[in-house]
Amino acid sequence: MCGIVGVLGNHEVAPTLVEALKRLEYRGYDSAGIATVQDGKLDRRRAVGKLVNLSDALVHDPLPGKSGIGHTRWATHGQPTVSNAHPHTAGRVAVVHNGIIENYRELRDRLRHREFTSQTDTETVAQLCEEFMDQGLSPRDAAAETLNHLEGAYALAFLFDGEEDLIVAARKGSPLAIGHGEGEMFVGSDAIALGPLTDRITYLEEGDYAFVTRQGVEIRDAEGRLANRETRSIPMQAASLDKGGHKHFMAKEIFEQPVVLSDCLSQYSDDGQVTLLEGLDFTETDRVSMVACGTAHYACAVAKYWFEQLAGLPCDVDIASEFRYREGPVSPASTAIFVSQSGETADTLAALRYVQEKAANVVAVVNVPESSIARESDVIVPILAGVEVGVASTKAFMNQLGTLAHLAIMAARQRGRIDAERERELLNVLRGLPGLINLALAQEEAIMRRTAKLAEARSVLFLGRGAMFPLAMEGALKLKEISYIHAEGYASGELKHGPIALIDKSVPVIVMAPKDALFDKTISNMQEVMARDGKVWLITDADGAAEAGDGTWDTLVMPRIDPVFAPLLYAVPAQLIAYHTALHKGTDVDQPRNLAKSVTVE
Ligand code: AGP
Repeated sequence: MCGIVGVLGNHEVAPTLVEALKRLEYRGYDSAGIATVQDGKLDRRRAVGKLVNLSDALVHDPLPGKSGIGHTRWATHGQPTVSNAHPHTAGRVAVVHNGIIENYRELRDRLRHREFTSQTDTETVAQLCEEFMDQGLSPRDAAAETLNHLEGAYALAFLFDGEEDLIVAARKGSPLAIGHGEGEMFVGSDAIALGPLTDRITYLEEGDYAFVTRQGVEIRDAEGRLANRETRSIPMQAASLDKGGHKHFMAKEIFEQPVVLSDCLSQYSDDGQVTLLEGLDFTETDRVSMVACGTAHYACAVAKYWFEQLAGLPCDVDIASEFRYREGPVSPASTAIFVSQSGETADTLAALRYVQEKAANVVAVVNVPESSIARESDVIVPILAGVEVGVASTKAFMNQLGTLAHLAIMAARQRGRIDAERERELLNVLRGLPGLINLALAQEEAIMRRTAKLAEARSVLFLGRGAMFPLAMEGALKLKEISYIHAEGYASGELKHGPIALIDKSVPVIVMAPKDALFDKTISNMQEVMARDGKVWLITDADGAAEAGDGTWDTLVMPRIDPVFAPLLYAVPAQLIAYHTALHKGTDVDQPRNLAKSVTVE
């Protein structure tokens, strides 16, 4: 996902732009650039790779000016090269963009008389705007007219030659925020980018565009009518963007889990009862449909067991990019739950829009309450994990599970499936989790002993049964996305139906199995692996370790927990295994190659 910043300041703006872009690094990028206007003249600097390369370029070739825009690019159209880096310019206009212009080829064809210098869809926006200015339109009118010709998803910021007090901002499908300073104004992809500059934020709505000057902002809706949008104070903990003494944000966020899960538990339960959430009533619901991507999808897959076993509710779980095409049985009696850390994932947002008119209740379980997915839902349930910077989701996954567990318990109580006593019991198990997570985190040394060997593997299998099966898939995702080692999560019972052909001494098999009703079957699966020289790393509790006996490659003993909520606890070793294996591999743990923190393109 690309990052956008814009500043109409009272001081030299280049350092401020770069600092703001640094706060957007978590989104993932492969090139960056800024443009400023000085004495009426537009100029830019761009660099491939990390922001430090752009800073170097600015040291050797400073860019003066108190008005500017900046961008971090996650390549969609065209390689990560300087010529493809934003800002893109055409004559008197510079543009930065997050999203995809779907009709850029058609526009490029219409502008074939103009000289293009990049392969990007974004340059088409700059060229089209310049074309309208050539036809005599003012910068404001040219930008507004340009928007009328764009199809697809965009957050855009325009800067113009000769206009030292104007940035035109526009939003359709990708979020964009306006920041209000003292005699200064700002534009940013989100409140995080603008954190140190201001906490007074106005989020543009779908289709809005805005004329920003140092005196303020004029916002117009998609029809060009003046629009009033709420300005809110969104305090940005400065701490959210330092590593708190850890080597990586991912490590910091793994170790924050006891605290952030406690925040979630306190928010959603009190004195042995789920704190009823406004607008959430599962009494009449005929089915729950959960939709998400990646790690959030695995959180939904775990929660399916809770909705079905505790609340007796049929529960579908879909990958967002597949959901629309399945034409599943979502009806007005359904509750559709969309889970997303960023709240901006395009696939998930598209799925939400698909069910908008079908499902009676659209619920957003998100980490960013002012995100697009949240704003387009009937009920917003924040997961309260705090800003998650590492691209590999950890504490957000934990709090997605914590939040969904509360929803399932509440549904069970509303539907008369559990009494107050059982509700109290279940909530007590959840309340004990932060302490158990601390004990699991204390196993880091034991985990590190094995990950050096794991880093040599070319492929790893994760196995689990019941609600530990989706956790096995999440463990595999964590490992592959940050260590680049191929890994797959499988239902333990499925091994003998094919994947066992993969087993030999070079393929470690990580078995996530608390001592529960399914444990004996899992032991049999483990024996099948070990009988073929497979290396089993068993992650279980003391009772499981005693029953499994020797013969495993290693056994990691976790604290005992009621199996119903074991996935929250066993997420910790899965995360630490991935993290330490990646350290051995020397990969970019916080910003793994090819990945973005939020994928705002379908
Ligand atoms: C998780 O570690 C990955 N970064 C990725 O799968 C992520 O979970 C997915 O892109 C969904 O993101 P969201 O929760 O912001 O919608």
